Amino acid sequence: MVSGKMFLWGFVAVLCFFSALLSGVAARMGPPILDGDIWRSPEHIFDTSNYGRLQLNNGLGRTPQMGWNSWNFFACNISETVIKDTADSLISTGLAALGYVYVNIDDCWSAPSRDMKGNLVADPRTFPSGIKALADYIHEKGLKLGIYSDAGAFTCQVRPGSLFHEQNDAELFASWGVDYIKYDNCFNLGIKPEERYPPMRDALNATGRAIFYSLCEWGVDEPALWAGKVGNSWRTTDDINDSWVSMTTIADLNDKWASYAGPGGWNDPDMLEVGNGGMTHQEYRAHFSIWALMKAPLLIGCDVRNMTTETLEILSNEEVIAVNQDPLGIQGRKVSVSGENGCEQVWAGPLSGGRLAVALWNRCSSVVSITARWETLGLHTSTSSSVRDLWKHEVIEENAVESFEARVDAHDCRVFVLAPEVSYSVA
Ligand SMILES: *[C@@H]1O[C@H](CO)[C@@H](O)[C@H](O)[C@H]1NC(C)=O
Ligand SMILES: *[C@@H]1O[C@H](CO)[C@@H](O)[C@H](O)[C@H]1NC(C)=O
Ligand SMILES: *[C@@H]1O[C@H](CO)[C@@H](O)[C@H](O)[C@H]1NC(C)=O
Ligand SMILES: *[C@@H]1O[C@H](CO)[C@@H](O)[C@H](O)[C@H]1NC(C)=O
Repeated sequence: MVSGKMFLWGFVAVLCFFSALLSGVAARMGPPILDGDIWRSPEHIFDTSNYGRLQLNNGLGRTPQMGWNSWNFFACNISETVIKDTADSLISTGLAALGYVYVNIDDCWSAPSRDMKGNLVADPRTFPSGIKALADYIHEKGLKLGIYSDAGAFTCQVRPGSLFHEQNDAELFASWGVDYIKYDNCFNLGIKPEERYPPMRDALNATGRAIFYSLCEWGVDEPALWAGKVGNSWRTTDDINDSWVSMTTIADLNDKWASYAGPGGWNDPDMLEVGNGGMTHQEYRAHFSIWALMKAPLLIGCDVRNMTTETLEILSNEEVIAVNQDPLGIQGRKVSVSGENGCEQVWAGPLSGGRLAVALWNRCSSVVSITARWETLGLHTSTSSSVRDLWKHEVIEENAVESFEARVDAHDCRVFVLAPEVSYSVA
């Protein structure tokens, strides 16, 4: 039914285009990617038939969340000192100013059991000042605090879980000034996620505090299909680890759900490993590029107190961040593969203003030239477009027609923004 409706919108958009030409008013009807006649048939390539269906209406996550999370680097070795120093570093490195505002504590912040009143308590050894004081510190810096719990009897590291304590825990988090919750899936008593995740949504909503709700059920029950209006993001896969094989596997799994992402609700292929040492510079650049293009949450997972210049350079590429944070919010996806085992890949997605983001990703073991053809991007072959390289920060072609090509190092990824010229002759 929904795709039929979108199809109809396509015809409406074409009619509106002609009337817009006459009236001089830009019509914007139906799928936002139908913009003028430069597009061949983008709806076949960038299917948006599920766009806007799932989004939780709590005003948050209009663009993918950006920030930092403790798990990938620190695992359980966290403390209030680490969290505060990280907040300070997000400011001093300039990352906060680029949008990385959520400071998210993962598992292991809480004591092994609830107090006499049934409340969660911060581990007195590692968080002696408590979470409220930490939230105040974070807020004074203009940042936001995230916390972690589990839709089960225990968290993955066997701290108390929030299943059947949703209301109590949500009220406690809100009273501390928490801005974000990551909600994990361990010790779930075999109850379906479809039943375990909505009660926390309702409990958070009832607090009246705007709290970003990040579902982490590891993609086991294909949350893109049922997470309707439940969370602001939902993990689509098992945990990432700091390796090329994990990163590429997860990118492909997440790609499958592209049509379900949109402002308010995002597919989450897990947090960034950039800077943790298990991948090369090229591989980290590819990881960051593809996560940005896929409208994935950009949650830094390294020790931001001690980053190399190369790591900081990747994480602070403003032009790549702008692709991720584009207000249109359509997830980019894999649009063509060629070469041995499909290792020469083109990923692309529409951006606001009738532009396109295009990534040329070389998964082969040696340098190759990859071609992006207009037909695979949904553009008319005669459309002329500028091509800007977001890692080199320069326009490489002013008037490309039909295709463009670039050499890409092994395991590297180059990202471009195409700004097609709107032509007024309908083909
Ligand atoms: C845990 O963190 C402390 C201080 O932040 C550090 O000195 C120590 O090496 C870390 N331990 C492990 C096992 O990573
Ligand atoms: C609670 O849900 C309603 C209905 O979706 C929404 O309008 C409101 O903004 C939500 N409030 C919070 C605090 O999330
Ligand atoms: C990392 O992920 C890959 C792919 O999912 C998996 O094969 C591998 O065993 C994982 N490595 C570790 C150390 O967990
Ligand atoms: C900083 O990172 C480097 C690796 O990039 C590591 O060798 C060093 O131990 C780290 N320093 C601290 C204080 O963690």
